[in-house]
This record gives sequence, structure tokens and C-alpha cells, in this order.
Amino acid sequence: MTSQDSGAEEVLRLDQITKRFGTFTANDAISLSLKKGEVVALLGENGAGKTTLMNILFGHYVADEGSVTVFGQPLPPGHPSAALRAGVGMVHQHFTLADNLSVLDNIRLGTEGLLSFGGARAARDKVVRLSRDFGLAVNPAARVGSLSVGERQRVEILKALYRDARILILDEPTAVLTPQESEALFATLRQATGRGLSVIFISHKLHEVMAAADRCVVLRQGRVVGTVTTAQTSRAELAALMVGDQLAEARVAPGPSGPVRLRLERVSAPGLSEVTMELRGGTITGLAGVSGNGQAALADLIGGALAPTGGLFELDGKPVALWSPRAALVAGVGRIPEDRHKTGTVADFTLAENAALETYATRFARAGLMDWPAVRAHAEAIIKAYDVRCEGADQRIRLLSGGNMQKLILGRVMEEAPGILIANQPVRGLDVGAIAYVHARLVAARDAGAAVLLISEDLDEITGLSDVIHVISRGRLSRAFARGELAQAEIGLLMAGQGADHAA
Ligand SMILES: Nc1ncnc2c1ncn2[C@@H]1O[C@H](COP(=O)(O)OP(=O)(O)OP(=O)(O)O)[C@@H](O)[C@H]1O
Ligand SMILES: [Mg+2]
Repeated sequence: MTSQDSGAEEVLRLDQITKRFGTFTANDAISLSLKKGEVVALLGENGAGKTTLMNILFGHYVADEGSVTVFGQPLPPGHPSAALRAGVGMVHQHFTLADNLSVLDNIRLGTEGLLSFGGARAARDKVVRLSRDFGLAVNPAARVGSLSVGERQRVEILKALYRDARILILDEPTAVLTPQESEALFATLRQATGRGLSVIFISHKLHEVMAAADRCVVLRQGRVVGTVTTAQTSRAELAALMVGDQLAEARVAPGPSGPVRLRLERVSAPGLSEVTMELRGGTITGLAGVSGNGQAALADLIGGALAPTGGLFELDGKPVALWSPRAALVAGVGRIPEDRHKTGTVADFTLAENAALETYATRFARAGLMDWPAVRAHAEAIIKAYDVRCEGADQRIRLLSGGNMQKLILGRVMEEAPGILIANQPVRGLDVGAIAYVHARLVAARDAGAAVLLISEDLDEITGLSDVIHVISRGRLSRAFARGELAQAEIGLLMAGQGADHAA
């Protein structure tokens, strides 16, 4: 499969890379090497400098010091085209495809002119061959805008392979994938390394790092703090390297449950069929399921963005006639959005503006004027409490690392102390330390009386935190199971729609 023998050819070497942004050092004398057919995982806390390092390798950023060598040749800094020519392909943390073009045109875009007539056929043949050889099933004629996240990612990988990449860099490739899609991705990578491709992937998920990487390089605050062979390490050791000490596994005692805040009885809506559930105060209700099975619709329904087409919807024991985003807001529903780039933030706004995005009218306007000192103080409080690594409240949010951006949004929602909280994939993209912190905050919200709906694909997260668990599959909800009533394997069966007890 992957070759680890010390004789294997070195395909990439980063030597003493240092990158500063102003006075901040994002990469501090980092060295790293990669061999032919090897899979190296790059780990580290949010803001540790992982994406920055890969952007230097790919030529998006120019290092202040140090050098990059690819297949024995020095790589001229700052030229993505030179990296591509040298055989380096990159799949970014946030995809870069054009929605309105076909798969084939996206792959050809930037490599060759789309108008060369003979080219289209040859290109199509090459894409079909690559997708067969590497197990990357996609339809070359499909419009990218119509594809799922997993399919888009396959297109990104195909695009790199089409350009004859021999080194593939993947920045958090599984952050947005379902567990099944992640499995398929790693199967593809195994085939690819068997064909001589070398891979660096960035991940916060230690179980997949343990399963897929030959070697792990751990960064902390811009420095390499450890390089370990996966076969000779453990999840606990990796976590300790990342954050500097051992983290206790979250073990959450059940809380005293409060009154029913929301009750849904046989509620239907587009994507949901006859959903029956209660959200109680002082209770974390976990919703397990493979993403795309109605979770988004349920979150929209409770958040007021999707109108029910039938059934009974009660708030605090009274039937609700008109449920809207406004009504939900008034009822104290808070929502941690799933897609933090589309619906969570405005990239060119500052952290302060983003922190006040949903509340500026109600909290920060005085006689029609914004109270800027208050907006800034609010953001600074969130930055401090949620350990958002940044230069300050006036920085534009797009300059933050992925995980730090997320911490700001989480803080923004949690600071409103919502009585009903929809937490949709709340720890996606966060490092182990930040995950423990967010989980503690969810439990604290519950203990303060909030009704929390936790939507997650991660069964450890669901079973570790939830007082009550529902499983969703194809828009249908299982009955409520008490904490500990189901083993994870049984939840897995229900997620696949195969459980016996699937009727509400
Ligand atoms: N263009 C920039 N200007 C200023 N600061 C930047 C810029 N790009 C990155 N940074 C800072 O450099 C640090 C490292 O960011 P980077 O994106 O490399 O982190 P990361 O390890 O990929 O984190 P995550 O796991 O959250 O994605 C962060 O503090 C970030 O705010
Ligand atoms: Mg990153």
C-alpha cells in the first residue's frame, strides 16, 4: 500500500519556513519532508499555522525565510503555476469551483482553453479514465452547482490529478463530509498512494489520522512540536502534543429536566414527514443521522425559516399559528448555523461587526446610531471567552483561521443565552481543546435551563452529551431514546434506516 521504507524517494522538502503577518509569526522555522507514496497528516490547534504552511508550499503566500524543494528542484516562491508544474496539487479548506459550469469545464478551467474543439473529447476521456483509476465517481457533464459536497470534493481531487499532480495537499478534506464519504475518500487516497502519489492532509479528527496517515507532524503556535510514526503513537499522545496536556474525556452527568418548551406532533414540511418530538428545558436532545436526511429542514423548521405543512406545533404548551424567523427570535431561539461561511459571517466585515450581525438593531443601536464602543466591547468579550486567536476586534474576519472564525460565531450565539438552542454540527473544524470548551458551554447552557437540540454526525458527540436521542433517516424521526438506552451500533443501524423501532 504505502511505502515507508527509508529508501523511498523524497518528493518534497520544506526547510526552515518562517512566515510573519506584521508582528505575528504564523510559521516559525518549520521543516517537513514527504516521501513517494507516503501519507503525512498535519495536525495542530486552530490557528497553529497549518493552512498558512500549505499556502506557502502552493505559492499563494511567500515565506519570509526558508525554502521549498520539489523532486529535488527548488520551487520559486509565490507562483501557484510553478507549484502546479512541479506536480503539486491542492484541495483547499473552502472549495474553489464555479457552480454554473460542468464538472468537465471546471476541471479544464485554468489548465487549457475551454474553446479548443478537439480538446474537449480528449479531456473527457482523461477525466473518465482518472475517475475509474482512482475510484472517484462523478459525471463529467453534471453542473457543479447540483453536486453534493462529497462530489464537489471529488471534482477538486480530479482537477489536481488531471494536472498530473504527484503530490496532493488536502486541507481538512473530511470536515464537510459524511462518515461514508470520508471512508470513500480514504479508500481513494490509498489507491492513489499505491500508484505513487504522495499526500499531505490536514485534519482535526484523530481517529482518521490514526487510520489513514503513515506519519503525523504536529504544529503548535507555528512550530513543529512533534513528528511521530502513526503506528507508534496513540490518539491520546497526539492530542497531548497538540494542546500541551492531556484532555479529560467529556463525561456529562444528566441534568434535571425542565418544562417542555417546543412540542412537535406529526409535523410535516418539505423534507420532513410526520415528525414527533419535544424539546425540554434543561435537556440536550441529540439528533443523530447522516447529513442530508432532513436535519437542515428540522433546524429550519424550529428556527422559523421553514413553514410546517401539517401537524401540531406548540410553544410552551400553546399551539403556534404563525411561526416565522421573527417569532422564533422573540421566543428566544438561537441557532448555530451549519454553514458558517454562507450564513454565519460576512467575510469583509470586522470581527466586531460580525459579532453584532444579528443583534445590532436590538442591542447596539441608540437613537438610530450604532454604539460602536459597545459593539467592540461585546466582540472583545467573545474573543476572550472563546479564545478566538486574532489581532483584535477590528480585524476582518476572513483573515482568521477556519476554526477561529467558527469560535466567534459560536460565541455570538451563546452570548445571547438562548432559551432554545439549535446547535448544528457545532464543533465542525474545531481542534480538540476548542471542542472540549464548546461542549462544556452547551452543557452549561442546558444546566442554566436551555432546551438544546444538538445535531451531529459524530456518534461520540451525540452519545457523550445527549440526555435524549432521536435518529433521523430520510426525513423520518425515530422515537426518543433515553441516554444509554441504545448502543452506538444500534444508532448506526437506525441512521441507515434499518432499525426495527423506527416509527415515532
Ligand atoms: N493573511 C493573513 N493576515 C493576517 N493574519 C493571518 C493571515 N492568514 C493567516 N493569518 C493568521 O495566521 C494564523 C494561522 O492561521 P492558519 O489559517 O494557518 O491556521 P490553521 O492552523 O490552518 O487553523 P484552523 O485549524 O483553524 O484552520 C492565524 O492566527 C491567522 O489569523
Ligand atoms: Mg486551516
